[in-house]
Amino acid sequence: MIIKEAIFAGSSTSFENRPVQKLPEFAFIGRSNVGKSSLINMLCGRNKLALTSSTPGKTRLVNHFTINNSWYLVDLPGYGYARASFRERDAIGGVIDGYLNNAPHLETLFILLDSRLPLQKIDLEFINTIGSKGTIPISLIYTKCDKLGITRVKEQVEINNQELLKYWEELPPYFITSSTKGTGKEELLQYIGDILKKLK
Ligand code: GTP
Ligand code: MG
Repeated sequence: MIIKEAIFAGSSTSFENRPVQKLPEFAFIGRSNVGKSSLINMLCGRNKLALTSSTPGKTRLVNHFTINNSWYLVDLPGYGYARASFRERDAIGGVIDGYLNNAPHLETLFILLDSRLPLQKIDLEFINTIGSKGTIPISLIYTKCDKLGITRVKEQVEINNQELLKYWEELPPYFITSSTKGTGKEELLQYIGDILKKLK
């Protein structure tokens, strides 16, 4: 699949003020600073479509982008930003839950993990919470693989898989990516394209 057109469709804090078109959605979530917005830009071939920052906590709202006039990419705020105040964390958590608890057109929630790190407690908890609800299909995306090198990333992924298999009979699909190098772009777009084809 090729992304020909990507248009910012709006920011929202709740279902009421989300963009109104009923289109399939693919959303990106993960810890603050893991690279969600960068990955959306990489997939769309655009530098500044989603705003990125080296300071965690950049994305605070749910941002919809209309792709090829037929589906949405959704950039979500990061969870677990340690330096945010309790009140801010509550607000961000509320925005994330508000989206996930009422997302009838969400086809896949991509959970982003930093490929340099062992599976973090907060990520495992998030995966297990979403997974046990069983209502939202998930996939994992390992980010920033340029920083560590593919061999070491694959070793880390294998360790994470073993950890996940303690909780789950089956692993979710996973992708290894780098937004700076474009790694994983084809695979991810193909994956999304295949799901969209099945919906038709
Ligand atoms: P929040 O919106 O704050 O939750 O963060 P985010 O998950 O959207 O992260 P963002 O895309 O803003 O990226 C955070 C930082 O990581 C930025 O400084 C990016 O340049 C950097 N970054 C993101 N992806 C990559 C990558 O693939 N490789 C490298 N080397 N750096 C990356
Ligand atoms: Mg962001």
